[in-house]
Amino acid sequence: MRLGRYSHSHSHKHPSAPKLVVLLCVVGLLGAALIADFLWASSSSTSTALRYVTSNWSVHRASTIIVPNNAVNRSSVHDDKGKAKGQKKDGVPERFLSATFADLPAPELHWEKLPSCPVPRLDGFAIQIKNLFYVFSGYGTIDMVHSHVDIFNFTDNTWCGRFDTPKEMAHSHLGMATDGRYIYIVTGQYGPQCRGPSARTFILDTETKQWSDMPPLPAPRYAPATQLWRGRLHVMGGSGTNRYDPEVDHWSLAVKDGKVLEKGWRTEIPIPRGGPHRACIVVDGRLIVIGGQEGDFMAKPGSPIFKCSRRHEVVYSDVYMLDDEMKWKNLPPMPKPNSHIESAWAIVNHSIVIAGGTTDKHPITKKMILCGELLRFDLDTLKWSVIGKLPYRVKTTLVGFWDGWLYFTSGQRDRGPDDPSPRKVIGEMWRTKLRF
Ligand SMILES: *[C@@H]1O[C@H](CO)[C@@H](O)[C@H](O)[C@H]1NC(C)=O
Ligand SMILES: *[C@@H]1O[C@H](CO)[C@@H](O)[C@H](O)[C@H]1NC(C)=O
Ligand SMILES: *[C@@H]1O[C@H](CO)[C@@H](O)[C@H](O)[C@H]1NC(C)=O
Ligand SMILES: *[C@@H]1O[C@H](CO)[C@@H](O)[C@H](O)[C@H]1NC(C)=O
Repeated sequence: MRLGRYSHSHSHKHPSAPKLVVLLCVVGLLGAALIADFLWASSSSTSTALRYVTSNWSVHRASTIIVPNNAVNRSSVHDDKGKAKGQKKDGVPERFLSATFADLPAPELHWEKLPSCPVPRLDGFAIQIKNLFYVFSGYGTIDMVHSHVDIFNFTDNTWCGRFDTPKEMAHSHLGMATDGRYIYIVTGQYGPQCRGPSARTFILDTETKQWSDMPPLPAPRYAPATQLWRGRLHVMGGSGTNRYDPEVDHWSLAVKDGKVLEKGWRTEIPIPRGGPHRACIVVDGRLIVIGGQEGDFMAKPGSPIFKCSRRHEVVYSDVYMLDDEMKWKNLPPMPKPNSHIESAWAIVNHSIVIAGGTTDKHPITKKMILCGELLRFDLDTLKWSVIGKLPYRVKTTLVGFWDGWLYFTSGQRDRGPDDPSPRKVIGEMWRTKLRF
């Protein structure tokens, strides 16, 4: 039953954007996406008859809350859909809503605010090498992208350096991994708004700050899961060239000490579900892929500036693992669906810690919902827990861990304690002393 989710995923494979849009319009019900999500939740808990004990949280994951009908803001639902045909008259006394968008109960943590990054950034990437934290590119605003690296020193808590990226390198939605000196960088979005992707790849020597090229990816991707594993750089999933379609391709390339050892990328076993914005981590000789989503904003057709427009997205809580057998296995899912966590993790004492993210959209307002929890996946027990609250909810934040302190910077934060939808792109740097 190891591959249960794998075959399951094929029935959901590649919903095309137009099909989804048509489906949503025809149905015209605010519940459409929600029902799909809920079915997914139920089917995932039944198909998780896996070799690992399901954590207590998967029960929480599938829980429902009942919302009295009068809490449904009909005017905003109507505005949202524009043409909500066939909307039922009163008479439905209550509605069942998946509660996955809600904040999870979490202990308070003491956070210390450190000097902010010289620039705010969203959808950049970060790589930690010992006490130095390299923070790459990203959007400054939706109309402006950065093309430089800022460096933070965890020893004296200062921003201590800056250098440029190659001008052909993508600016956001990159894939990256390090061997402790060289940083391998693949693909991503080139330019602001919702512009197209690049297949270009680069190697950075962090000691000399010299850049070199690698063979381009077989096809460009947005925010693919990327990691170094057993001497090979692995690149999986992400979105395809339209920024929306989840892709399941998995490629690898042999690299060593900043050199590429073969001519081109090798095709590997496809990932069970495609899509961007996942955490990808190698620990205990295994490759683990966590969370993510299918679908993303796309460029508005014909827009000369590739203006971003929102599309249907499904966020998921799946955790997949590759080991010696080179077959994907499921691990216990996250406490709730979570995406935009590609740089939001650190390994701490044989646990994976993940900060913030995005979860399912609000079922009524349809607003994007950010996460403000600090999660822990204990690799000894394979259990998830919520170990604390961040100072605010934040997505695509960049996380590092040094000398007992967990740090995060950058990303997009919420509108306030009572409004989990995204607002300001930040450059703030925070840290908290972790104790499990
Ligand atoms: C799940 O957690 C609750 C509350 O912490 C606890 O009472 C319950 O026994 C747990 N269930 C399982 C199956 O671990
Ligand atoms: C309902 O939606 C309208 C229009 O978006 C908004 O002005 C109003 O504050 C909302 N009411 C509630 C209770 O959320
Ligand atoms: C980081 O800070 C420590 C302590 O001030 C210093 O010794 C070290 O040289 C710094 N590293 C860099 C790269 O600036
Ligand atoms: C990790 O383990 C070390 C050594 O046992 C301990 O001192 C430290 O507090 C632990 N860190 C956390 C976050 O629990």
